[in-house]
Amino acid sequence: MATQFDLKGRRAIVTGGARGIGRATAELFLKSGASVAIWDIDGAAGQAAASELSSLGKAVYVAVDQADLASVRRARDKTLEGLGGVDVLVNNAGIAGSNAAVADYDPAEWAQIININLVGAFHCCQVIAPDLVKNGWGRIANVASVAGKEGNPNASAYSASKAGVIALTKSLGKELAGTNVTANCLTPAAARTEIFDQMSDEHIAYMLSKIPMARFGTVEENAAMIAWMCSPEASFTTGAVFDTTGGRSTY
Ligand SMILES: NC(=O)c1ccc[n+]([C@@H]2O[C@H](COP(=O)([O-])OP(=O)(O)OC[C@H]3O[C@@H](n4cnc5c(N)ncnc54)[C@H](O)[C@@H]3O)[C@@H](O)[C@H]2O)c1
Repeated sequence: MATQFDLKGRRAIVTGGARGIGRATAELFLKSGASVAIWDIDGAAGQAAASELSSLGKAVYVAVDQADLASVRRARDKTLEGLGGVDVLVNNAGIAGSNAAVADYDPAEWAQIININLVGAFHCCQVIAPDLVKNGWGRIANVASVAGKEGNPNASAYSASKAGVIALTKSLGKELAGTNVTANCLTPAAARTEIFDQMSDEHIAYMLSKIPMARFGTVEENAAMIAWMCSPEASFTTGAVFDTTGGRSTY
């Protein structure tokens, strides 16, 4: 990925930064001059990502379960110690969960998906947004999904959680509009990462069949859009939804 954005001196949190879209975002941020706190529930992969990326700039791993508010508060304190402050929050961590019709879905798993994807994103916004406002400048990028716009069959919890992330972003963008802190949202179509391991082959084929460009997105394409959303240039855009869907979503 040759593209670089001017993130010089910015201190960024990337949740779910151990792998996939989050890791590609952390890498692009570092190449663009930011320091990065990789927040992830997976300690081994998070530590490995931080040490592998540290040749590009300051990268630290911070343990967190974003479904747990107390854990998010601890991660925030550790990040302020490690980076000396925070300017950017990328809410990227999430799970897909398994594929089943609404009538058959395990209620406990349904609630867990909402709790990690939606309530977890809320926790991170609630804990970090006041720091950004205090700075007088900040960027929040929430990673939702095209599933939150369209509703994928056999993925109702995931789709509902991501629709919630879109609405959370719209509310937050308006709340912060007078503060120099923006909050925007990304809605990717499928990109081949380890998250595919949670899905059925039929579901993966369904997602591909819906993409007019007839291919999956790449983590680098998603990272590039996130980096732009977090750049100083994206100064008149808040509460907005950006697609990386190869033409699936044109609204
Ligand atoms: N890959 C896709 O096809 C696709 C499409 C649309 C949206 N998205 C969204 O993009 C984001 C990243 O997806 P990905 O494909 O890179 O996934 P991934 O599975 O490769 O990575 C997700 C990361 O989130 C972490 N995580 C999970 N639960 C957590 C928790 N409770 N607290 C902290 N960290 C946690 C995991 O350990 C993992 O490192 C997700 O929100 C996903 O829903 C992905």
